[in-house]
Amino acid sequence: MEQKVRVALLCGGQSAEHEVSLQSAKNIAEAVNPAVYDWTLIGITKDGRWLWQGGERQNAAGGFLLNENNPKTICLNEKNLVAFDCGNLKQLFDVVFPVLHGPFGEDGAVQGFLKMLGVPFVGSGILGSALGMDKAVAKKILRAEGIPIAHFVTLHKEEPIPAFSAIVGKLGLPLFVKPANMGSSVGVHKIHGEDEWLWHLDDAFLYDTKIIIEEYIEGREIECAVLGNGAKTEASCPGEIIASHEFYSYDAKYIDGNGARIEIPAKLPVGTTETIRKMAIQTFLTLCCADLSRVDFFVKKDGQVIVNEINTMPGFTTISMYPKLWEQCGIPYRTLIDRLIRYGLDRG
Ligand SMILES: Nc1ncnc2c1ncn2[C@@H]1O[C@H](COP(=O)(O)OP(=O)(O)O)[C@@H](O)[C@H]1O
Ligand SMILES: [Mg+2]
Repeated sequence: MEQKVRVALLCGGQSAEHEVSLQSAKNIAEAVNPAVYDWTLIGITKDGRWLWQGGERQNAAGGFLLNENNPKTICLNEKNLVAFDCGNLKQLFDVVFPVLHGPFGEDGAVQGFLKMLGVPFVGSGILGSALGMDKAVAKKILRAEGIPIAHFVTLHKEEPIPAFSAIVGKLGLPLFVKPANMGSSVGVHKIHGEDEWLWHLDDAFLYDTKIIIEEYIEGREIECAVLGNGAKTEASCPGEIIASHEFYSYDAKYIDGNGARIEIPAKLPVGTTETIRKMAIQTFLTLCCADLSRVDFFVKKDGQVIVNEINTMPGFTTISMYPKLWEQCGIPYRTLIDRLIRYGLDRG
């Protein structure tokens, strides 16, 4: 009998998207073929401890429940009481699937760590992950490539805050403010007038020392899934997010059950769909990404397509946009995971 592929699912993590990650990991673990894969869960707590969860399944309502009392914690820093020989990760697993979102998980940090250990992993490497995470840097690179993005300015915490009127003169009103490195709409605000200016900037600065201020783009929110590598990169049909809030805020995403609905495929003219698919692949390759990403767009009333952002490890629950888009293209959830694990293994 052929040896099973030993997969470590890294989940949880230190970002605001900890819970989404636990849910994605649960769905992935339940979907993979047990005849082919032997999976082990490694949970990362919000304070950064790596916990060995093994193949046990403790389920909370949504996702996996991390066993915080497990004495077998892994690696490296002073937060962990019991050291685990990290070098063994390479002997223990054929591939790691870091199902982690946001800072520390999706920004190249964990990817660099795994690279140092010599363990093959699924998803973008250090550079693609880091570029995809930093909205300011990603936008500058996309702009240099001629990919349409919203006009924006970058602000650093230590610099004096520019006058509201100067920014409005440049970018108009309303404005959007967001931390450069975040996700899930945390710290994202729409600014309607000067009364909200300092208040919203201060909030965005809570999450990063660098923030961006953008012109408001009035348009539909369209997302496109990307799968593959290099010349073999493919894009799915686009899907639409229809938020019932003023924008696709944290509440609309996670708190309000009716905050948004998804429409797949998005009802768009054929030409617009093709532009989006082409631009999704172009964005993915320009930002040096690998294996998977979700590229998010605005489509204006006049049909103009604008890239908003890339997510190098998009939500991966069975109801998330990324797998749903591939399902629509004839790739079921389980096959999608097979392909992603294969990409990781092929790099090993
Ligand atoms: N320039 C903009 N114009 C209009 N809406 C925006 C703009 N930027 C962000 N938004 C709204 O805020 C949401 C979150 O912003 P986004 O840049 O996607 O950050 P995150 O990484 O937190 O998802 C978007 O889905 C959209 O609804
Ligand atoms: Mg977004």
